[in-house]
Amino acid sequence: MLELPAIIGHRGAAAFAPENTLEGFALAARLGCAMVEFDTRLTADGVPIVFHDDHLDRTTALTGPVAACPLAQLRRHAPQVPILAEVLDLCRSLGLAVNIEIKPDRGAEAATAGAALRVARDLWDRPVLVSSFAPRALAVAAEQCPSWPRGLLVGRVTAGTAARALTLGCEIVAAEHSRLTAERITILKKHDLRVLAYTVNRTGRADHLLQRGVSALFSDRPDLLAGKSAAMS
Ligand code: G3P
Ligand code: MG
Repeated sequence: MLELPAIIGHRGAAAFAPENTLEGFALAARLGCAMVEFDTRLTADGVPIVFHDDHLDRTTALTGPVAACPLAQLRRHAPQVPILAEVLDLCRSLGLAVNIEIKPDRGAEAATAGAALRVARDLWDRPVLVSSFAPRALAVAAEQCPSWPRGLLVGRVTAGTAARALTLGCEIVAAEHSRLTAERITILKKHDLRVLAYTVNRTGRADHLLQRGVSALFSDRPDLLAGKSAAMS
């Protein structure tokens, strides 16, 4: 079973450094973080990059869909956006465990998972936690990397969530924390699923969820439980 730290750095250390960047992953490691989460999707020419949104507008100087932008254009105008291979190389050198979230556009679930996992398999010799909101991406992960643990991402845990996760061979369900109740945590745990919650940035909420049996929390503040502020360090 994959060992999980209580806090997983969400998109690196998104509260303190630009999300999903090499700078953010390096900062997460400096803050004592043992594991980082990041999102991967494909450029127009099929290269897995580490990027959250389906459009470029929010975090880069470019506009339009990521899926319409070739890597060369990203390199020229948004050099802070790393390719997946660069992120894995850095995380390996920093000793960080990784959670790769497959973040496909609709219709590109299998292609995104396939390309991302081919890169990851070549570069990573330890288990990777592979997660996604997209069941098809998780099914591809089960085929390509059967020994790597998988996590089903959901907004809210519903009556069918446990069955869906188990059918996909997932050992983890990760849910949006504000809609995660003690009752839902208990139901998932009865099915031997580990429960994770995103995105938790307050210490009190983190303590509450961990006490109720949540195994790990995604946080923009990897130092959340270290009792120190990155802004001051
Ligand atoms: O994996 C947890 C979390 O990253 C899922 O939501 O939108 O931040 O990718 P999002
Ligand atoms: Mg994510």
